[in-house]
Amino acid sequence: MKTSQTHTYKNKIALKYHQKILLNIIRQNHNQKNNGKILDIGCANGIFLKKFSEEFKNYHLTGIDTSSKMINLAKKLKIKNLNFFKKDFMKYNKKSYFDIVVASGVLAFYDDYSNPIIKMLSLLKKNSYLYIFGTFNSANIDTLVKFRNNYTNSTWEKGLNSFSIKTISRFLKKKKIKFKFKKFILPFNLKKKNNPIISYTLKFSKKNQLILNGANIRMELFYLIVKKR
Ligand SMILES: C[S@@+](CC[C@H](N)C(=O)[O-])C[C@H]1O[C@@H](n2cnc3c(N)ncnc32)[C@H](O)[C@@H]1O
Repeated sequence: MKTSQTHTYKNKIALKYHQKILLNIIRQNHNQKNNGKILDIGCANGIFLKKFSEEFKNYHLTGIDTSSKMINLAKKLKIKNLNFFKKDFMKYNKKSYFDIVVASGVLAFYDDYSNPIIKMLSLLKKNSYLYIFGTFNSANIDTLVKFRNNYTNSTWEKGLNSFSIKTISRFLKKKKIKFKFKKFILPFNLKKKNNPIISYTLKFSKKNQLILNGANIRMELFYLIVKKR
């Protein structure tokens, strides 16, 4: 899957704010001293796994991404107990293997949410957690988007789809799966970047802001935390 949304990862060695909060959430559910295995789906430059490994020293880490550029960057991070693969996670055949699966910014590439979520859960052991981060609509509308980023001369791209909280909740409840949505709040403003697809903020009151992107789409961001029984 080609995407122009990975531009900001090229020279980035610090965690993005949404990744910092994700690490906080993971800290609450998992003991740093334990052994375990984590998979980061759509790991991009691998920086999340690097920071994770500094705290969860006994974990084995796997990162997969469909972008060879990103995987090549990730491979430059010299971290022990770590594998990076260029791979579509839908074709990754490990069953009931990981203690933590993270998929941040990935579900939006799919026109159907059910198969990717089922696949993500299949990679997890029982009583383990899946952490999805991305756009979910608080209004009950599902949206499929195709865009062309003329700044990068891209062809038609995906990665901005969003499903409603109700749609996802109905699906998970039907399967009797335990889950929780947690709203993402950005405590600072983001300036527009040259690459227009990168999100930025627009202030509309002293305290409130909207996160938007160059496709003129508002991004309502949430963590979806799912426990596999
Ligand atoms: C928006 S970026 C998010 C990167 C990072 N996880 C984060 O949270 O900042 C989405 C990443 O997912 C990757 N991706 C998209 N579809 C994928 C798939 N089916 N399997 C693995 N990686 C995928 C893209 O190449 C891209 O690097």
